Order: sequence, then C-alpha cells, then structure tokens
Amino acid sequence: MECVCLRSRGDVNLFFTMNKERIFVFDTTLRDGEQVPGCQLTTQEKIEIARGLALLGVDVIEAGFPVSSPGDFNSVREISLLLNEMYKNREISEIPTVCGLTRAVEKDIEVAADALKYAAKPRIHTGIGASDFHIQYKFNSTREDILRRGVHAVRFAKKFVDDVEFFCEDAGRADNLFLAQLVEAVIDAGATVVNIPDTTGYCIPDEYGQKIKFLRENVKNIDKAIISVHCHNDLGLATANSLAGIRNGARQVEVTINGIGERAGNTSLEEIVMILKTHKNLGFETRINTPQIYPMSLKVSRLMNMPVQPNKAIVGRNAFAHSSGIHQDGVLKNALVYEIIDHKDVGVPDNAILLTARSGRAALRYRLEKLGFRLSKEQIDEIYPKFLEMADRRKDVNDGDLLELMGVAKPTEDIQIKLLGLNVVCGKISTLPMAAVQMEYKGEIITETATGNGPVDAAFKAINKIVTVNAELDEYVIQSMSKGSDDEGRVYVKLLFDGQAYFGFGESTDVVLASAMAYIDALNKII
Ligand code: KIV
Ligand code: ZN
Repeated sequence: MECVCLRSRGDVNLFFTMNKERIFVFDTTLRDGEQVPGCQLTTQEKIEIARGLALLGVDVIEAGFPVSSPGDFNSVREISLLLNEMYKNREISEIPTVCGLTRAVEKDIEVAADALKYAAKPRIHTGIGASDFHIQYKFNSTREDILRRGVHAVRFAKKFVDDVEFFCEDAGRADNLFLAQLVEAVIDAGATVVNIPDTTGYCIPDEYGQKIKFLRENVKNIDKAIISVHCHNDLGLATANSLAGIRNGARQVEVTINGIGERAGNTSLEEIVMILKTHKNLGFETRINTPQIYPMSLKVSRLMNMPVQPNKAIVGRNAFAHSSGIHQDGVLKNALVYEIIDHKDVGVPDNAILLTARSGRAALRYRLEKLGFRLSKEQIDEIYPKFLEMADRRKDVNDGDLLELMGVAKPTEDIQIKLLGLNVVCGKISTLPMAAVQMEYKGEIITETATGNGPVDAAFKAINKIVTVNAELDEYVIQSMSKGSDDEGRVYVKLLFDGQAYFGFGESTDVVLASAMAYIDALNKII
C-alpha cells in the first residue's frame, strides 16, 4: 500500500492510498539485445551483465538461445550457476528466473532444458509465428498446424520445467481471433506466461492496447497465465506500446537496457520503469532498484560497444544537462522547474549545467562557485561579456576555461599536449602489440613506446608515460560514421580525474589514431 499524492494545490496536497499492481520485468538484453550485429559478447561479459541485471532487480533474465550456439548454451548454464552463487542463502522468491529461448522444436527445447538444468528458477520460452505473414511465408503452413505445433511445444517443454512462456511471434500483425485461439490453447497446454510480441514494431499504442484487452476479454482461461508485452521500436513506439499493453492488462514487460535489440531495438528498461515510477497514479510498481539504472546503462554500452545517443531518455549524456539560459536559471532556483526525475534516482551523478553562449549569469555564477569563486553581482556583470566572447569561440566552456577567464590559468592553447606522431605494430604476430608516440608536452618534444593488450591500449600506455596524470579511463566508445571500411571512426573517451568527468573526442580513418586523439583531448581538458 502506498500513499500517492494526486495533485498539489498551493500547499494542500490531496492524498489517497492505493494498492499497486506488480509489473514483472523480463530483461532480454542478453538475447534480443545481443542479436544486434557487432554487439556479440563473450560468456564472461554476459556473466558481468547478468550480475548487473540481478543487482538491478529484474525478475527474469533471458540469458540466450541455447540451441543457436555453444556460446549461448554456455552462457545460460553459467548465468544459472552465477545466480545460485549470488543468492546462496536467500529466499527462492528473491532469485531471478533464468530463461532460455527456443523455437517450437523438440530439439531446441531439449537443449534449452539441458542448459537450464542448474537454474533455481528455470523458464523455457518457446513459440511460433502467429501472423498470416509468418504462417504462409515463413512456415508455408496453416493456422491449424501452427496451433498444433504450439500446443505440442508447450506440452513438451512442461516435461522439463514448470515455467513455460509461449511467444506468438508477430502477434502485432496477427488476426486477433486466431491469436485468442492460440493463446487459449497454449494456456490449456500449461503455458504460464503468454508473450504477445509486436515483432516488427508495426502497432500503434491504441491498437496494441486493444489487442491485449481483446485477449483479456476473449480468452476464457486468460487468468491462468500472465500476459507479457514485447515491443520493437521500428516506429519509435516500443515504450508507448508496452505502456498501452500494461494499462490493458499485461503484467510482464520485456525490455533491454538502453533499448538495444534487433533493428531499431526493443522497449528500453529505463524508460518503462521510470514511466511507471514517475506516474504513480497509474497504480503499477516494479522491483527495479532504479539507482542502478545508469551504471548498468554504461556497462552495457561499454561491453557491447553501443554508444548511447546523447539525447536518449533517462540515460543519455544530455538527459540531465541544461544549456539554455532560461532552463539553467529555472533549474538553479529549483530542479523541479525543468526536471521530472531526480537524477540521483536513476544513478546519474549530477545534473550538469553546461556553459555555452546561451547560458545566463545564473549559470556562470553557479559554475564559478563550484570552482570556489564567490563573485558579487557587479563582478559577474563585468566578467559576463568576456565569458560570452569565449563561449562563442569554444563550443562549450569547461572548468579550465573558467579558470582562464578568472585569470588563474594560462589559456589552454599554451599548455596543449600535441600529438606529433603515432606508430603501432599489431596483428597476429608473436610479439605484443606496441605503440610509439611522439608528443609536444610543456614545450618539449618527447617520444615514448609501450606495449599493451591491443594497439589502442599500447598507445594510451605510451601517452601515460609522457603525461603522468592520475586519470582513470571510465569509458571508451568507438563508432563508425557510416558503413564502409574506408570510413572515419569516431572515438569518445571519458576520463575520471579528481571526482570529475572529462570527455575527449577524436576522428580519423585510422581508429588507433582517433583513439589517441580522443585520449589526448580529454587529458588536455584535465590539464
Ligand atoms: O520479437 C520477437 O517476436 C521475439 C520473440 C522471439 C520473442 O523476440
Ligand atoms: Zn524481439
């Protein structure tokens, strides 16, 4: 039971109490998310993500598609063992379910059952195409045959585990009457969860919500199973569709961290969870430990080499950054003016006030105070035009620039670390990858060499020998600008130094060079 503030009128709040309905969070980052080309993970990396998902509080971890590869099989097995270890002395209800995907094929189900054999709470997720597109073109089959195969798959899976989820692939485009027939039949066969995927991301929210409502009203045994929503983002509607499904009776939502997944991705965990948390009056709750959201987003982005778009809701770099003067002024008076979520509630360390040519005096004063400068109104008025001039010349004004403005630091141009040359030796050879760098630093030309785990690591180590700043590399992301192998790579690094984050960027057709440039860019900002 939770007390919910309906609305605020002056200082009189209207309260009422309501029981919240539990929404189960089924995470498929390691299955649907991992289907993204270029995002494949090693078993060790999957284990690291699974640990994070467990700490985040997801109810189900879809750990892979065991029959698809020995790697997926192993991951499902290893993740089951990991959770047993993590939850050794805990109640069974606290342990996340481990799920393995299968087609409606006996062999798949047998292999999944084997991969899941150590899981404390195993679930087999089996299913088949439900739309006429799938029935005719993918299976060259009939609705009757699909019904029979679906029921058989559930019955077969029930021989191994109690918990069987059935997916009706492409349910978004399936005929509702046939879908209802299929759902009823698989529940009769023992399915505990029925998944209604909008596989192609085709539906719009009203339509998808109505589909779930239709099933609730027309499947007579629907109360014996949980309805699950699984939406793809081809039209940018995955989160909206999932919400519509929940509001119409679904009680499990299938999501990925950062919304990664096939094509345009899946519903993102952080979005749906924070919608339900922010709109308490909807009456739903999840068990997600929301301060773990941002660390988890960084982990997935780093391990999958999938940069998060800066304006991504909740976890994007700019999600809590304010740059226009009016907004900065409002947020500095009270964050509630322009923020609907407390950044700490999703684990974002700070709401940034970015200084640009659009920033006002309030923002300038705030950032200067953070550096220890307490200025009078007259002093701020005096310095503000110089700040604007500087902001016009530089894209954004960082702490080093502010010190320069206050006359306590030299212009950054004077102290720049410059990369003069870089050579690397790498490839499949018997020696370790090696890098030699030549740099201008503090007016001196210095050359250093180092070996490393790869050419980038070697280059960073060689740079560290010259610029001995005790900064920690917190993020390294490499992205191709378009498709060709002759294309430019863009590298983005984040260094942590003295509790502050410094970002560096580099672009080149040579990705090792781009990496060194990004690293030096961030070091320059520190220095
Ligand atoms: O999108 C989809 O239909 C799926 C199923 C395999 C569950 O990912
Ligand atoms: Zn999917």
